[in-house]
Order: sequence, then structure tokens, then C-alpha cells
Amino acid sequence: MRVLITGGSGFVGQRLCKRLAAQGHALQVVSRTPEKVRSRLPEGCDIRESAQAFADSPPEALINLAGESIAAKRWSEAQKEELVQSRLKATGQLVTLCEQLKENGQPLPHTLLSASAVGYYGDQGANKVTEETSPNDEFAHRLCVKWEEAARQVETLGVRLAILRIGLVLDAGGGTLQKMLPPFKLGLGGRFGDGKHFMPWIHRDDLVEAMLFLLEDQTLTGPFNASAPNPVTNAEFTRTLAKTLKRPAIFPVPAPVLKLGFGEMSQLLLTGADMRPARLEAAGFTFQYPTLDKALEAILGK
Ligand SMILES: NC(=O)c1ccc[n+]([C@@H]2O[C@H](COP(=O)([O-])OP(=O)(O)OC[C@H]3O[C@@H](n4cnc5c(N)ncnc54)[C@H](OP(=O)(O)O)[C@@H]3O)[C@@H](O)[C@H]2O)c1
Repeated sequence: MRVLITGGSGFVGQRLCKRLAAQGHALQVVSRTPEKVRSRLPEGCDIRESAQAFADSPPEALINLAGESIAAKRWSEAQKEELVQSRLKATGQLVTLCEQLKENGQPLPHTLLSASAVGYYGDQGANKVTEETSPNDEFAHRLCVKWEEAARQVETLGVRLAILRIGLVLDAGGGTLQKMLPPFKLGLGGRFGDGKHFMPWIHRDDLVEAMLFLLEDQTLTGPFNASAPNPVTNAEFTRTLAKTLKRPAIFPVPAPVLKLGFGEMSQLLLTGADMRPARLEAAGFTFQYPTLDKALEAILGK
């Protein structure tokens, strides 16, 4: 199958592309800098600067991962706009491609898998969160709503849409864990604030498998929480990471310090949701890494 991926050069996209290529799929990747990212992607991958540039070879499925990293910079008003607009632009390009294909009488992709995030639910305290849970209105929620609504436009054209509300993606060589490891390896790690807030997480391989699962099963539509079935609090995450590294983690970072340092972005470190993958599990998806200790052992033991 011909699969088009936006953000294929990223932390999730690289692993996804490798897995899709191993299954024999033909890859089309949208990147702002095709030449720069070529070495990160499988051989033979067709990389172009926009989704519309692939109108001459219509993809059979679309996967939407592109967007400015949520933790790239402090959330100034300009940065918040970049977080939103980068996602709306990438998603809008996919919708435009589908519209163009339809207008030209060319075949449409059967599926769009579009990324969203646990941030959709906002701060949920100790609530158990499924796809049915009412969100808390805050910046991350509003960002995800706009992103999901933009993707939803393909449904009117007859393209199946599945949305992944992704938790913290864990693996070596990128993402949040890469940022957390240096202090923890030095024994300088610690919980954030009181550590009671949840950090739903998912091993990168399980996320990629969940995407393949959703690509395959044509009956699945709508939002899917993409995080392991056993989320942990920040305090448990801290303890498990320290134990796996055989280091102490006795230096909690007080909430006011994080708020001062990161402003509104400190919400990423101090709030969360006890998110459960209710719909993925109901659909029969099984996680290779259901618990954090197993996931971290696999990642850090490599
Ligand atoms: N990783 C996580 O823990 C996590 C958690 C929840 C949700 N998500 C979501 O899942 C998606 C994939 O995550 P990821 O960790 O793989 O993301 P990533 O590595 O940060 O970025 C994915 C790709 O997006 C493109 N990109 C970056 N900044 C951009 C900008 N300003 N405008 C347009 N494109 C831009 C880049 O591709 P090019 O440079 O090739 O253009 C990049 O390779 C993201 O949308 C992310 O928000 C991730």
C-alpha cells in the first residue's frame, strides 16, 4: 500500500516508517526539508515538501504526525500560535490533497490516522479518563480540538478517520525520556511538584503497532487513547526510572520553581490525566509493554 506520512522524519515517524517499509509498503513523506531528513528515512522513501505534491501518485492511506514540538520553547503567545498553526497547516494540506484527488476523479485514500494528544483532556486530577471523559478547558485542550476538527474535514469526503490521543512516547534517542535521563543518571532526578499528577505513557513500538492496527481494521473510527493500560503518577514514574537506572531520585522540583521557569508550559510537568486506552483494548489491541517497569527495562537495557 502507498502510505503518505507528514512528520515522518520525527521521533515517532522514523520508527513508523521503518516498520511500514519492512512490511513492504511504499512510503511518501512530507517534510519541510526533504534533503536534510533523507538519511533518517528508509531507502526508496519518496520525500516531498507538501502533501499536494503527491497528487500525481495518490496515497492509499494518510498518517498525520507533523507539528512544532510541544516542549520546544516556552509558551509565549507567538509560540502557542506556532504550535496550533503548524498542525493546522499540515492537516489542512492533507484535506486539500483529498479534495484535489476527488475533483480530478482520482482514487481517495481510504484512511487518515491523525495524531492528537493526551492534552485533549487537559488537567483531570485523579479521574480515570477514557475517550468518553469531558475535557478540561485549557490551552492544550483547545489546541487538540482545533487539530482534530481540521482532520475531521476528510470524513465529509468519505475518508475514514481515526485519531490517536497520544501519551508520553517512550524510547531511547528522543522524546521526553532523552531530556529526563541526564539528571536521573547523575542521581539528581526527582518528582515534579507533589508528584500526584498522572503521566500516561506508551512505548514507541506499541504506538507504532497501534497505528498499524488502526490502519488495518477498516471498521475503527473516531478518537483512540494511545497510551499503555497502566499509567503512573509522576512520583511512580520517578521511582521506576530511578530504580531501573539504579540511582537515587531524591531531588523533587517544587511546583513554584517550575511555574517560574516554564510559565504556562509548566502544565506539561505539573498536571495530567489518568488516561486509559479503553477503545483500543475493546477493539482487541494488545500492548507489548503494558507496564512501565517492563518498558523502561527494554529501553534502558538496550
Ligand atoms: N512524542 C510524544 O511524546 C508525543 C506525545 C503526544 C503527542 N505527540 C504528537 O505526535 C506527533 C508525532 O510526535 P513526535 O514526537 O514524532 O514529533 P516530533 O519528532 O517533535 O516532530 C514530528 C515532525 O514534525 C515536523 N515539524 C516540527 N516542527 C514543525 C513546524 N514548526 N511546522 C511544521 N512541521 C514541523 C518535523 O518534520 P520535518 O522537519 O521533516 O518537516 C518533525 O520531524 C506530534 O504531532 C506530537 O505532537 C507526541
